[in-house]
Amino acid sequence: MYTADDEKHLYKQAKSLIERSNDKNFEQEIQQLREVINYADWKYYVQDEPVLSDFEYDTLFKKLKHLEDSYPELVTSDSPTQRVAKGISEKFPPVSHLVPMLSLDNTYNAEDLRDWDRRCKELAETEEIEYCVEPKYDGAGISLIYEDGKLTRGATRGDGVMGEEITINIKQIKAIPLSAAFTKKHVEQIEIRGEVVIHKKVFDAFNKQRVADGLAPLANPRNAASGTLRILDPTEVRKRGLTAILYHISYYTLGKGAQRPKELETHYDAIQWLYQLGFPSPAKEMRVYNKIDDVIEHCHAFEKRRDELPFEVDGLVIKVNHFNLQDRMGQTTHHPRWAVAFKFKARQATSVLRKVEFQVGRTGAVTPVAKIDPVPIGGVTVSSISLFNEDVVREKDLHIGDTVLVERAGDVIPYIVKPLTELRTGEEKKIHFPTHCPVCGELLEKAQDEAAWRCININCPVQVVERMMHFASKDAMDIRNLGEANVNKFYELGILKSIPDIYHLDWDKIQALEGFGEKSVTKLQQAIENSKQQPLNRVIYGLGIRYVGEATAKTLASAVGHIRELYDWDVEKLCTLDDVGPKVAASVSHFFKAHENRHIIDLLEKEGLNLANVHKEHKQHSGPLEAKTFLFTGTLNQLKRSEAEKMVEDKGGSILGGVSSKLSYLVVGEDAGSKLEKAKKLGTVTILTEQEFLDMINKAG
Ligand code: IVH
Repeated sequence: MYTADDEKHLYKQAKSLIERSNDKNFEQEIQQLREVINYADWKYYVQDEPVLSDFEYDTLFKKLKHLEDSYPELVTSDSPTQRVAKGISEKFPPVSHLVPMLSLDNTYNAEDLRDWDRRCKELAETEEIEYCVEPKYDGAGISLIYEDGKLTRGATRGDGVMGEEITINIKQIKAIPLSAAFTKKHVEQIEIRGEVVIHKKVFDAFNKQRVADGLAPLANPRNAASGTLRILDPTEVRKRGLTAILYHISYYTLGKGAQRPKELETHYDAIQWLYQLGFPSPAKEMRVYNKIDDVIEHCHAFEKRRDELPFEVDGLVIKVNHFNLQDRMGQTTHHPRWAVAFKFKARQATSVLRKVEFQVGRTGAVTPVAKIDPVPIGGVTVSSISLFNEDVVREKDLHIGDTVLVERAGDVIPYIVKPLTELRTGEEKKIHFPTHCPVCGELLEKAQDEAAWRCININCPVQVVERMMHFASKDAMDIRNLGEANVNKFYELGILKSIPDIYHLDWDKIQALEGFGEKSVTKLQQAIENSKQQPLNRVIYGLGIRYVGEATAKTLASAVGHIRELYDWDVEKLCTLDDVGPKVAASVSHFFKAHENRHIIDLLEKEGLNLANVHKEHKQHSGPLEAKTFLFTGTLNQLKRSEAEKMVEDKGGSILGGVSSKLSYLVVGEDAGSKLEKAKKLGTVTILTEQEFLDMINKAG
């Protein structure tokens, strides 16, 4: 795709475009901005090796947007700004596929593969067949059409003949190029097939947030990918972080008189070509063999490593390499004869649902948990499975005594796919939901727009204990040794009644307890003491405000100088923050209005916890360099640039991104270039050498 020289050039170009604030040749600047943004996207989304910081990327993007807004006639359909959607789609129109999207025949073992190999040789009328082997990605199938190098249509698989046109959602996937140099090989129209997938890491984080929001997590990455593609709000699609792999060219037309290029003679070359053109493809994972035994060996070895890939794979696909042979072999109405899937062992098993227990969580939500006969799935024994809420139980029509199909995809939590109703005996029993809290006996309530029944007694013992456990947990205050067992024990003994008690535990009583030696007491004391230094975002997260996960806690913490400022933030103001919608805002505002929560915050402050946003305070603090702005250019000799910038900020100054009339000082290192010239031209900027800068800092104390 990019040569090493291209990369160097584009990187430099990106850096200089960030600094340059205007240019007479705006047409060229627009072109350059597009090139560097496409390059940065490719590095980030296809290569997984980011080259720019978020800030730098945003700066470039904003510049491009600004220029295109000023010169709308220069906007092209493949400009990176065109990924940004305007409004919400009403529905996705049906479209017919140029070539039907077939599925694949399955094989499960070596014998199946040998049979398939024999059939291929008969059909192709040759003993010499090359096979390509590549992963079978477990996501949602898509079709992309490029015309004259530009993406013109994206569609779902649908029933294989008709799909849904989802171009706007496809554009939200930055791994998919909006244009590619197909015309260099005289390809005018081309349809590419592939799979939209979601990284396991992204999927887990997404589910974690859903659970924190009181929603049922999505079953597996496949459902997440296909569900997301059909969301009507493209902004939401973008947030979900989908990616894609393109693995098949199903159709193309060449310009008049053009010869079929070498890239379109074999599957292997086609996939390498797609990769060269900037597409994510299985280029690196693909192997070519000419003996089926080698294919089989690879399949077995690869299955052992299936968890190492960042996304789910449910098998491998074996394809005849030469397109001429593929054409000779043809297809059935369901699947091509020149390709086959080798399916990995299913991560499903059946078991019997024995009973349902009801657990009360930190927010009072009552969660049904299925207890099944223990069964091994994908290397772990599963006996307990969350059913999330009453709706899930009703939708799946689960009964006690049902034989159930259980799935555990990858490292993801297990779930019940469905009951096997055909195995019912008539002895199965309905699942009854409790009307009262199984812990404190309070009447359960259900809000109109929610699936969960809740115990609304905030002093319900389980909720109290769960709140304290959450506060001490790894992602919150990270107080090791204050886990479930100890919190429960201390609570039962009356040593720990609410969160602030953690900071004045009765150590004499604890030392007298069985299992608490001097060493473990000292460790716990140390962990509690250390937790006082945790930053504000962890405290906010630890307070367990509904719908406030780690990301939102960070957003809230960085918006204020001290947690108390949030007491005055109303829903409207909270909604101005990134990723804070009305639901989250209402919950946050409600939390900080409550007297008992303000009391807890007062007590925590008295105990010496860090409730101020240190970073923000720094910035706001006045200092000798207050209201002064700095920019560094060229190579510094005595300092790292980051150190120099920190010195400025520590003294109340701030750093600018480019030379403008707002800049007070330009600090010039070796080989300073355009910035220095520009500053000189402006005439309002004071130019300092590195030594002069250091002297200034020293003088400022
Ligand atoms: S080739 C005409 N290659 O698996 C052949 N399919 O179960 C087109 N899939 O519908 C398919 N990874 O959505 C092919 N490397 C791969 C694949 C792959 C996943 C999906 C595809 C297909 C389904 C069949």
